[in-house]
Parts: sequence; C-alpha cells; structure tokens
Amino acid sequence: MWSFNVDSEKCVKCGRCVRECSRFCLVMTADGPAPTSDAAELCFHCQHCLCVCPTGAVGVEGVSAADCPPAAPIPSADEMLNLIRARRSCRVFKTEPLPESRLAALREMLAYPPTGCNARSLQFLMVENPVTMAEIRRKSAEALLTAFEQTPIPPAAAKFLRMKPLLERNINPIFRNAPHMLAVALPEDTPCSTMDPIIALSYFELYCQTLGIGTLWCGLAYWLDDFMPELFDRIGRAPGYRLGYVMLFGSPEWGFERGAVRHLEAAAMVRS
Ligand SMILES: Cc1cc2nc3c(=O)[nH]c(=O)nc-3n(C[C@H](O)[C@H](O)[C@H](O)COP(=O)(O)O)c2cc1C
Repeated sequence: MWSFNVDSEKCVKCGRCVRECSRFCLVMTADGPAPTSDAAELCFHCQHCLCVCPTGAVGVEGVSAADCPPAAPIPSADEMLNLIRARRSCRVFKTEPLPESRLAALREMLAYPPTGCNARSLQFLMVENPVTMAEIRRKSAEALLTAFEQTPIPPAAAKFLRMKPLLERNINPIFRNAPHMLAVALPEDTPCSTMDPIIALSYFELYCQTLGIGTLWCGLAYWLDDFMPELFDRIGRAPGYRLGYVMLFGSPEWGFERGAVRHLEAAAMVRS
C-alpha cells in the first residue's frame, strides 16, 4: 500500500517536496505537505520528495532519509572529463571471470540509471560464467557457418558473411573472448524503450571504467538476435521481451596509455 509520511518535528514547511514532485501529487497544507487524493495512482516512485527534503522529514513508500545513500562526494568535472576521454572499447579480454565482489558491485549499480517515467522495467541478463560465454560463442559460430551453406543464405545471417573466415578459424568477432556479457531486455510497451537500455549501458560502461573493467558495445550481438533469438532466450530473457542492447565486459588484457585526439567538425556543432 502506497504511503507518504512527514515527521512534523523535523518538517520546516519549505515546500521543496511539493514543488519537486514531478507528478504534482503533493500539496502544502497548514500542517505541512500532504498527498493529493490520487497520489497513490499518480506517484511513479522516484523518491524526489524524500531526497530533496533538507531536514530528512519526508518518508515515502516505507523509505526514510536514514535509508538513503549519500548525495556526495561526486567526481570533479576534470575527473569526469578524463573518464569520458579515456574510455575506450576493449576487444581483448583476460579470460578469467571477474571476482564475485566486482560482479556484485555492477549488479547493484544497475538499479540507479534513470528510465523514462521511472518505469524501471529493464531486465538485465548478466552472463557471469565464462563457460556460458564459451557456449554462446560456439553456438553462434555453428549456427552462422551452417546458415552460410544454405541457398539463399537467410538475410539475418548474410550480414555476418564476411566473418566466415574468422569463424572457421575459431575466432568469434561478435563476442570476442569476453568472459562476461550484459544484455538488456525489456517489454515493448516501456515508455522510453529505445533510450532506457542505452542509458543503462552507458552508465554501466563508465562505472566499469572506474573499476578497471573493459567494455565493448556489441552491436553485432544485437543484430544476431534477429538470426538466433534463442541465444538470448536461453540466458533468461523473459517471454515477450525484446533485446535493448548488449555490452561485453571483463578484465582487459591491457590498458590504454593515452586518450585519442578527437575534435568535432565545425558542422557537427550547431549553436544558436
Ligand atoms: C552502439 C555501438 C555499437 C558497437 N558495436 C560494436 C561491435 O559490435 N563490435 C565492435 O568491435 N565494436 C563495436 N562498437 C565499438 C565502436 O566501434 C567504437 O566505440 C568506436 O570505434 C570508437 O572507439 P572507442 O569506443 O574506443 O572510443 C560499438 C559502439 C557503439 C557505440
């Protein structure tokens, strides 16, 4: 049951929670902030009312200020810019899995990226066992090489035809030698279904970089879903969910010694 409560001893009636509420489901009364009659239906559980309260007076849905993580420290602007500049794709991984403590940190982080309307309907398919990745590599190579023998080659497989010589040499250019993979799946009726998986993976990627974990956006695996959807079904995709996107990750075999030099073309930045 939805709940909103205010500690009247702590509340200074500043009105921040009322003004902050995205859904306009709080009003200020003589006694302090109170929910509107339709607040339980309107609230989309973002906890802004709770997190913005300067005195920690607000509780919502059983969560109080004491339960919340701190809002600081955050990286400096210089640190953040360096992180963005130094982030590079990793295509050569150590084959050993990441320690469970690292995987646990990654799993925990995935609760935080924003989703449209705070829908939070993403399903994270995290391949933690390198044996599963080896199986995915083997099955995808077998299925593609079989499809390449067909006439005509199924269009969803034909996209991969130029990889035939590599696959024949047991090199998998789709999944590389990554020990782990994070695939994001979601129900089609998610309000921001195009953006939510990409945002989650973008945050995931940057967090990985701070932990020394290499990442690779895997558009090829995303394409592969058209050819063999059973690959993602087997790792737990919920029925009716579509693939949002895929990222490979693991310890990099080596790091980068410097960032790349990049400038935007003049035409790429339109100012007004
Ligand atoms: C949406 C997206 C899909 C990508 N898919 C692949 C892929 O399937 N395989 C691959 O090796 N690299 C893939 N990449 C990596 C890009 O090639 C890479 O980001 C780009 O060359 C710039 O290099 P950097 O990431 O090191 O800065 C992808 C990148 C993005 C953003």
